[in-house]
Amino acid sequence: MSAKILNGKEVSERIKTELKDKVSELKKIGIFPGLAVVLVGNDPASRVYVNSKKRACEFIGIESFEYALPEETTEKQLLELVAELNADKKVNGILVQLPLPEQINEENIINTINPLKDVDAFHPFNVGRIMTGNPVFLPCTPAGVMELVHESGIDVKGKECVVAGRSNIVGKPQAMLLLAEHGTVTICHSRTVNLEEVCKRADILVAAVGKPEFIKGSMIKPGAVVIDVGINRINGKIVGDVEFASASEVASAITPVPGGVGPMTIAMLMKNTVKAAELYYSRA
Ligand code: GUN
Repeated sequence: MSAKILNGKEVSERIKTELKDKVSELKKIGIFPGLAVVLVGNDPASRVYVNSKKRACEFIGIESFEYALPEETTEKQLLELVAELNADKKVNGILVQLPLPEQINEENIINTINPLKDVDAFHPFNVGRIMTGNPVFLPCTPAGVMELVHESGIDVKGKECVVAGRSNIVGKPQAMLLLAEHGTVTICHSRTVNLEEVCKRADILVAAVGKPEFIKGSMIKPGAVVIDVGINRINGKIVGDVEFASASEVASAITPVPGGVGPMTIAMLMKNTVKAAELYYSRA
């Protein structure tokens, strides 16, 4: 079997084009969405992500405000910037790129972002709303994964869904989104006994372990939908958490890396920013 390729680049372009049309309509009624993107330090991968986010804003017609702060920025300085952005009427969404340098406590920063500007959906208010099944913003990467699952044509209802990885950014919220669509959800991780067997149960397998090519074809049920969230740099080449060559022989549908989940995350961030702007103006 050779798997259907779930082309995240293509799907994300479609979503961004719809958003572009929507933003031009919003501007006619005086709504001008704006996103603040905050980058602290010199992490090259973070710089690449931030640039992609800015480019997407430009394409859609969202105003972006970039804050590139030095590596030695203190937690107090960053908290002050977040407070300023919370109060800034032109800023509808605030994104603080993670990871932050070690002198800054990430949780303190996330907890300070106004939940209605928290387009990453990392604030405990938004995490709670996701948990109760009544989200304000959908978490970007998990929401992008769901779009690609839908693209595969599979109905999540009643299916065995396995999420490999338990991070706050992907694994945990991913499980909630699959559950919201009535999947039977298992989260497995580095301490799971018989991880291979657990993965092999999956009709829908989401790989978010952060280990290059960790999931092999032998760990996949024939016909499964495999979504690869991993972005790992190996000798200058980007590979996912799934060994694509062996997995694509077994799966019915699979995402490539790059060009799978990555562009979807950005499209979902844009969607949240437009929603944040609409929310802001509906409260104003
Ligand atoms: N670092 C890795 N992924 C993300 C993300 O989705 N949002 C932010 N802010 N930082 C990240």
